Amino acid sequence: MGKSTKKRIFSGIQPSGNLHIGNYLGAIKQWADIYADYDSVFCVVDYHAITVPQDPKNLQKKVIEIAKIYLASGIDPEKAIVFQQSHVRAHVELCWLLNAVSARISDLQKMTQFKDKSSDGNINISAGLFDYPVLMAADILLYNTDVVPVGDDQLQHVELARDLAKRFNHDYTNVFKLPEAKILKQGARIMGLDNPEKKMSKSVKSELNRIELLDDPKVAMKKIMKATTDLGSEIKFDIAAKPGISNLLVIYSLLAGMEIKDLEKKYTGKLYGEFKKDLAEIVAEFLTDFQKKYNQISDKAVLDILADGACRAVPIAEATLARVKKAIGIS
Ligand code: TYM
Repeated sequence: MGKSTKKRIFSGIQPSGNLHIGNYLGAIKQWADIYADYDSVFCVVDYHAITVPQDPKNLQKKVIEIAKIYLASGIDPEKAIVFQQSHVRAHVELCWLLNAVSARISDLQKMTQFKDKSSDGNINISAGLFDYPVLMAADILLYNTDVVPVGDDQLQHVELARDLAKRFNHDYTNVFKLPEAKILKQGARIMGLDNPEKKMSKSVKSELNRIELLDDPKVAMKKIMKATTDLGSEIKFDIAAKPGISNLLVIYSLLAGMEIKDLEKKYTGKLYGEFKKDLAEIVAEFLTDFQKKYNQISDKAVLDILADGACRAVPIAEATLARVKKAIGIS
């Protein structure tokens, strides 16, 4: 490949829990829609996942599953680098260097995701969970990333990566490009089906919270029918007054490629039940089509793609790491 003049995208997902339509609509679909216009790098971030306990027997299977989900979503590994974080050692090396010279404890104490995850007073939280945003900054900065497409819960982490880059460039020499987050206007925060006041999440116990990408389509239809709705009967987008229906409208709009205002018109005078039934069918159709693609990809093909991805990622990452070390005075 010749030297590209395209801007670079970098993003990643943890191989923990089961991916859901929030991950898909907020992140992966966004990648698939734009990645061919960029020089794109997508990572399965296994070193992030182990900051909370993972089953060693299952972890590599999960890595393969996430990579397959990227591919089934339309990411062509010929056009993008797809790799596994632990295959490129420069990530942890840059993480250490940033920890030592640029990251401040006070930066990390401000991270809302860490505050949420540690708020139950559990003293067995790993130091890695606290330091996790620095590893994420290393992921992004190693690849001279311009754009980081994510859901809005990752915005604060991308801003930290930018701040660390600025601090490093100021304290040493201008090594890092300053990355920017790319957040969708619609879909950046898909809410839980059972509680539309909180985002849909891999870690919420109730399975009624989310539609998983590998859910049986029939089960997914039931989850939509059971989704919490609001008082009244109007199908109208109004997050404050109608968080449940607004969330379902966003999901419908993104999966069917229809504007919310057109959906409001279509369902004027109709009942929640009819709206949900149609959405359940759209979700089932999407899952059936998605899973067909997913099931056509073999584990062996994924392993080859990840190995090739690492070979392409290493030289980019190593070149940045060498510049960082030189700037610090280590050679
Ligand atoms: P993770 O694995 O929790 O989530 C993956 C992506 O899904 C988005 N997302 C959502 N979007 C919309 N609605 C939701 N309910 C929803 N839930 C999750 C997330 O915002 C994310 O884009 N720290 C990251 C992984 C990471 C990373 C990186 C991302 C590590 N290094 C470098 C970008 C660049 C994480 O835990 O995402």
